[in-house]
Amino acid sequence: MNHSSSLDIMTLKGNLTLPKIPEPNMALSVFGVFLGLLLEISAHGPSSVARTSWRHEDVSLVEFSEPGVLNYSTLLLSEERGVLYVGAREAIFELSLNDVSIKTNQVVWKVPDNHMSKCVLKGKSKETDCQNHIRVLQAFDEKSLYVCGTHAFQPLCDYLTLEDFRLINKHEDGRGKCSFDPAQSFTTVMVDGELYSGTAYNFLGSEPIISRYSVSQSLLRTEYSTSWLNEPSFVFADVIREGRNSADGEDDKIYYFFTEVSVEYEFFGKLLIPRIARVCKGDVGGQRTLQKKWTSFLKAKLVCSMPELNFVFNVVHDVFILKTPDWRESVIYGVFTSQWGNMGLSAVCAYNMTSVDEVFSRGRYMQKATVEQSHTKWVRYNGITPTPRPGACINNQNRRQNINSSLQLPDKTLQFVKDHPLLADPVVPIGNGPRLIARDVNYTQIAVERVPALDNNVYDVIFTGTDKGAVHKSVVYEGGAHTIEEIQLLRNREPIKTLLLSTHRARFLYAGSDSGIVQSPTAFCDKYMTCEDCVLARDPYCAWERQTTSCINIFQKKNTVPHRMLLQNLQGDASDCPVAARPRTSETYQQVAVKPGSSAELPCRVRSRLAQVLWRVNGTDLSEAAHFLLMRDTGLLVYSVGPEDQGRYECWSVEVAAGKNFTRLVAAYHLRLDLPERTRPSADVVPPSYPESSVEHVDTAAAKGNNVNTAGPPTLTPSPPATDALPLTPATTTVTDADALSAGPRPKLLLPPRASHSPPRTDTFDPSAKLLQRDNSGTLLFLFLLFFFLFLVAVAYNCYMRFLPAPCLRLRAALLGPQKKPQPEYAACEGGLMETAPDRAGPPRQNGPQLQLRALRDTGYETESEYGNGKVASHSYEEADDTPSKAKPFDIDCDSHPIEYADADAPY
Ligand SMILES: *[C@@H]1O[C@H](CO)[C@@H](O)[C@H](O)[C@H]1NC(C)=O
Ligand SMILES: *[C@@H]1O[C@H](CO)[C@@H](O)[C@H](O)[C@H]1NC(C)=O
Ligand SMILES: *[C@@H]1O[C@H](CO)[C@@H](O)[C@H](O)[C@H]1NC(C)=O
Ligand SMILES: *[C@@H]1O[C@H](CO)[C@@H](O)[C@H](O)[C@H]1NC(C)=O
Ligand SMILES: *[C@@H]1O[C@H](CO)[C@@H](O)[C@H](O)[C@H]1NC(C)=O
Repeated sequence: MNHSSSLDIMTLKGNLTLPKIPEPNMALSVFGVFLGLLLEISAHGPSSVARTSWRHEDVSLVEFSEPGVLNYSTLLLSEERGVLYVGAREAIFELSLNDVSIKTNQVVWKVPDNHMSKCVLKGKSKETDCQNHIRVLQAFDEKSLYVCGTHAFQPLCDYLTLEDFRLINKHEDGRGKCSFDPAQSFTTVMVDGELYSGTAYNFLGSEPIISRYSVSQSLLRTEYSTSWLNEPSFVFADVIREGRNSADGEDDKIYYFFTEVSVEYEFFGKLLIPRIARVCKGDVGGQRTLQKKWTSFLKAKLVCSMPELNFVFNVVHDVFILKTPDWRESVIYGVFTSQWGNMGLSAVCAYNMTSVDEVFSRGRYMQKATVEQSHTKWVRYNGITPTPRPGACINNQNRRQNINSSLQLPDKTLQFVKDHPLLADPVVPIGNGPRLIARDVNYTQIAVERVPALDNNVYDVIFTGTDKGAVHKSVVYEGGAHTIEEIQLLRNREPIKTLLLSTHRARFLYAGSDSGIVQSPTAFCDKYMTCEDCVLARDPYCAWERQTTSCINIFQKKNTVPHRMLLQNLQGDASDCPVAARPRTSETYQQVAVKPGSSAELPCRVRSRLAQVLWRVNGTDLSEAAHFLLMRDTGLLVYSVGPEDQGRYECWSVEVAAGKNFTRLVAAYHLRLDLPERTRPSADVVPPSYPESSVEHVDTAAAKGNNVNTAGPPTLTPSPPATDALPLTPATTTVTDADALSAGPRPKLLLPPRASHSPPRTDTFDPSAKLLQRDNSGTLLFLFLLFFFLFLVAVAYNCYMRFLPAPCLRLRAALLGPQKKPQPEYAACEGGLMETAPDRAGPPRQNGPQLQLRALRDTGYETESEYGNGKVASHSYEEADDTPSKAKPFDIDCDSHPIEYADADAPY
């Protein structure tokens, strides 16, 4: 993981209290605003640092990949059969759920040569794109799967019989069911034998379509129009069943999630908007209007933002619907990033199914209106909506009016929904903001499990996959979220393409990537060796078992262990843990003997990134700086050990949870000099032959040794004889980590040059590190000033180049004057999205940059009030020179502005 940018922020945070500098120092205040935003994001809300991080080799994972096969991107779980179906490139596999390395079946599906050559002729790559990428894998019935592949840009579907695992060669046209291009975004869901897809309908991928395919009916699809779908990237689709026997006779609904280019906001570039859309399962299209098209297609904006900062996450990457027996209690979880990836932030937002339904069944519609001659704008429709409600599913009330299917819907309703597929009311997240914000990662996938904990509450545990092959596991609380651990699932740092959770029989997480499949347990309780660690992890899967004194997975041993023997506290309050009986007698200290002048590494592996590491020597906090280097992940390095360095060293971890400090001794050493019988005074400290295992060690010892040699008393640095290799074992080989949590390879000794200048790899500022570095503060100050200067230069440059958000733009405009051309799209968008202090109070002053900024913001995420009563504020960008009298609200006439068709082939 690359933590460098977070470290930069943290460094500044640690050393700087934000200067609230008045007018004169403009540069600094710009800097302050910019930094302030970052700091606020890190301070606000549920920003999360994974407490523990497991490397790929730390945990036991099961992997599967077949030689020569790539792109394992489609997964289908069958809990009943206990198997995982995998769609890859030119192959479908059946793997055991409990051990994916066991392949029970496979079928190969290649592209015939004539298809292949046609595909190559069209300019696609024979090695990759033209192959048959299996992208649809859905359970058709008990006995077969429905399978579709891209098949050399000619999508084809077939049935796979599970009995003998064979394709029946009933080749069906895959257009509208599967994408042509294996790289194009795409989603499907099978509901009662009907396949719902979101994909492209043509070779170029330019005609987006949401469709339903069933054996008995013809394809039902979306209108080809930019108001219906505008360059969408589909991420997910699923059904919410309401059941025919529900009181109001409502239909089941299929929800689609995608990111598309906004039509309702004017921007200088393409502004992306995350959407939720839905169709009714019983929809069969209209009689005359909307023939063979959805009569129930409606979509709304999915909001994931931090309103207090005006920061918007506007790209949705994946969605998981946590379903409950009563559909109203279901929760939709989505992972988002910002279109402007430069912030390096990912967010998880959750949506209440009840409020989603509220928006779709009661929300107002958007209406396209023409302003001036050609310029169109979307405004909220305030006229009378026809009945039955356009886009609603057929329910009992309709049936009482003799409308039993969408074929019987009146033309007025159908024409209206055709022209108004977009709802004005957005779907806002639970709590009005993200559930979780992560810095410096791009989340790509999400899976959620609802876990009953021992405190009789249920907790939602979120697994998010990243583009670097890791998974974050977080638990959601009333007031935020806590990231329990980060697991490097994939061997390579490649994106996780699919993430599936099996919650019935096997509790495993399955991840698909380009290079293979990985199966991981959902918890690593047995990695926590102490009660404190087990409880502080705050993992609802884990509890400390007093009898066996081990951290166990309660879902594996639930029935055998009585609850009172288990200790779990999801606030992390570990005060009930038995007091560690660790008598601090000299036997408990590991003896470490080093040669004078050499260095000693005292390992101390504190697994929790939320903990502070404190070293104590002879019972007092380590304060002497010269010889010590604190390595956060690995321990303490004592340079050029002299007699005064001998003593008792203790490594403590201090972790705050539930408002309490939990302090534990992690490792204890008794460091002493191993004086050879016969010392030979010599200026040369460096022994020529160290064991190869500690090469880095030697370098430092050498560097430091020379250093000390000039300053220190010569008698303290006797050099051992060159031949004397055996007793001269460096600390690394004599000391073993007392509390090492895994038997994995010893952490590598990290020795950055003058490492004390780099901030400690912790997100809580570590006071002990500061103490250790006190003598270097001069250099530190110099470096800090240097970096600060460079930073200012960078800010100034970026500001000048218009890369930075609105406050900077305003400053820039003020400095350079208002005559500048309109900003390029990035600045414009960010100006619109990240404006921190909306100045809506005063009347819009009709001049220069001020007006521009306002206009930009107005075309961005507008608040409802800006629309007024279906009126449009007059100060749009194009009208900058118009007089206010032109601000006449125009009437909405829904019939005179039909939707614009994206192609010539007429809808009827
Ligand atoms: C398939 O895998 C290869 C190798 O990782 C990758 O380069 C390619 O982009 C993948 N193709 C798709 C469609 O994901
Ligand atoms: C969803 O909203 C409804 C009504 O606003 C509320 O009763 C329900 O508790 C909410 N559910 C969740 C999971 O927040
Ligand atoms: C996230 O993705 C963007 C664009 O794909 C990339 O530029 C950025 O470096 C990624 N960030 C991280 C932390 O991986
Ligand atoms: C620890 O105490 C011993 C004597 O008890 C002393 O020689 C040594 O210098 C002390 N070590 C440190 C690092 O203060
Ligand atoms: C926890 O320890 C820190 C120092 O490590 C101290 O500043 C703080 O007051 C302590 N908090 C409590 C609740 O004891």
